[in-house]
Amino acid sequence: MDAREIEADLNETLVTEAEIHAKLAELARRIEADYEGRDILLVGVLKGAVMVMADLARELRPHVTMDWMAVSSYGAGTQSSGVVRILKDLDSDLTGRHVLIVEDIIDSGLTLSWLLGNLRSRGAASVEICALFRKPDAAKVEVPVRYIGFDIPNKFVVGYGLDYAERYRNLRDVAVLAPHVYS
Ligand code: PRP
Repeated sequence: MDAREIEADLNETLVTEAEIHAKLAELARRIEADYEGRDILLVGVLKGAVMVMADLARELRPHVTMDWMAVSSYGAGTQSSGVVRILKDLDSDLTGRHVLIVEDIIDSGLTLSWLLGNLRSRGAASVEICALFRKPDAAKVEVPVRYIGFDIPNKFVVGYGLDYAERYRNLRDVAVLAPHVYS
């Protein structure tokens, strides 16, 4: 889906598909260098990270393996509470593995902060985070992120995996949702 097809629903485009792909290529080169000689297990967090995972994994030149988790934070509405429930756990045993968590966005940081602790307790050799977007002004906890794509303003953004009511994930770019859509 292209932004111009739903322009009435959007304010401005924040990051284009081309900018995302250029950034993922840059991150992939850093990841390849940092993990040279070590096998990477990419862990994607459903559902938002599907696009990042698909594009980052294909950008990486060595073999990687992929696994998925689905988590849900308890709490009202759109605000994270920090209490996280596992809806789908990993299929893999993490013992001795080099785990790279792949996320679309860090908002409050509560989900990733919890996930980092959870995965680190499973005996992995290392656990690092790659997140394509981060909203510094929304942070409630600092999350140690090794690879970050873009810092963006604390606005309601959709596209490239990010949804509003499960829609807009297939928008190619990342754009600010027009307030009339959700108010
Ligand atoms: C989004 C995103 C992160 C989390 C970030 O997922 O993919 O997992 O919120 O928010 P936080 O930093 O405030 O914890 P969401 O719960 O919307 O589910 P989705 O990936 O299925 O859209």
